Amino acid sequence: MTRGLICVAGATGYLGSRVVAALRARSLPVVALLRDRSSDENQRRLSALGAGLAFVDAARHDSWAEALFGADVAISCMASSNLHVNASDDFWAIDRDANIRFGCAALRAGASHVILVATFEGRASRSLTAFSDAKEVAVDTIGAACREAGAAFTVIRPTAYFSDLTNRAFDSVLSNGQMTVLGDGSHLINPVDGSDVAAFIADCIDDPTKAGREHQVGGPDIFSFRQIGILAADVLGPPYRLKIRKIPLWSLRLVAALASAAGCVSRASRRTAAILKWMIWSGTHDAVAAPCGARWLRDAFRSKRDALPLEAMIGKRRDRQ
Ligand SMILES: NC(=O)c1ccc[n+]([C@@H]2O[C@H](COP(=O)([O-])OP(=O)(O)OC[C@H]3O[C@@H](n4cnc5c(N)ncnc54)[C@H](OP(=O)(O)O)[C@@H]3O)[C@@H](O)[C@H]2O)c1
Repeated sequence: MTRGLICVAGATGYLGSRVVAALRARSLPVVALLRDRSSDENQRRLSALGAGLAFVDAARHDSWAEALFGADVAISCMASSNLHVNASDDFWAIDRDANIRFGCAALRAGASHVILVATFEGRASRSLTAFSDAKEVAVDTIGAACREAGAAFTVIRPTAYFSDLTNRAFDSVLSNGQMTVLGDGSHLINPVDGSDVAAFIADCIDDPTKAGREHQVGGPDIFSFRQIGILAADVLGPPYRLKIRKIPLWSLRLVAALASAAGCVSRASRRTAAILKWMIWSGTHDAVAAPCGARWLRDAFRSKRDALPLEAMIGKRRDRQ
């Protein structure tokens, strides 16, 4: 078990904030790495958990050295937002280059264990999309550096969190009774709650049988993409009848090919093409991993429903009757 400091990059994100909470719940000493000094709320939230704070904006190539001083374990949950980004903060700049700089700086600071959160089946899809390849280059490079330094390297590959995919499904069913799927939406996935992934990451620090390995992690139940929409409609209750809107794969492939062609002259188009190809890959492959934790998507949808303002539910019901 580590007795040293644990530094978490991407500590304000969906997963990173849960990782800080999981580590602090075990009374481990944590430094949360933030990029933005302007968000008082994030600082208050992380400080309230008992984490120290340090500030590094990887897009500006700030040095990690001071923030990682004394780190025994360095965890990166850092990722580009992929939206409204430019060359200094896209997935090549952050998921690949910033993660590599972070991992190498952690080793120079004396860390004995680096944990990187990567994408599910990134290896299998890297030849098809630069989006996967960017993260896999980071996995390869940090892995080699850890081997050379004699440090442990753990890679976490979650399927999809109870965030982007499932929130989009819930919100779409709520706002227009519709679930959008790629192709026929029959591929399978077991999305996982970020708190379960965070607890798994904390286990990797304490448990020598988990450290130094790759782990695919998923949630306790398996759905097709269509079934996620059906579940949202079921939780919202009548009159939320569901329409499944299918995006034909050929249309996405066509847009991806056009973006690829435009990518000869534009990094933004290369980025768009890579993300579209990632979406096509994800929509046409099952993403089912060993279940970790026991937080259920139905409960997450119920919490979202129960948090809705009453007027929103009544208004929507009226619209639909
Ligand atoms: N979303 C999924 O379903 C999914 C599935 C499989 C794997 N993953 C992987 O899981 C990891 C965590 O994902 P997530 O959904 O938690 O991501 P997220 O919520 O978007 O959080 C990303 C974090 O990276 C930070 N960051 C971005 N640019 C930065 C910069 N220039 N300098 C310093 N920090 C920067 C963000 O800081 P700000 O808050 O300041 O923006 C944020 O804390 C990622 O590696 C992702 O690829 C995600």
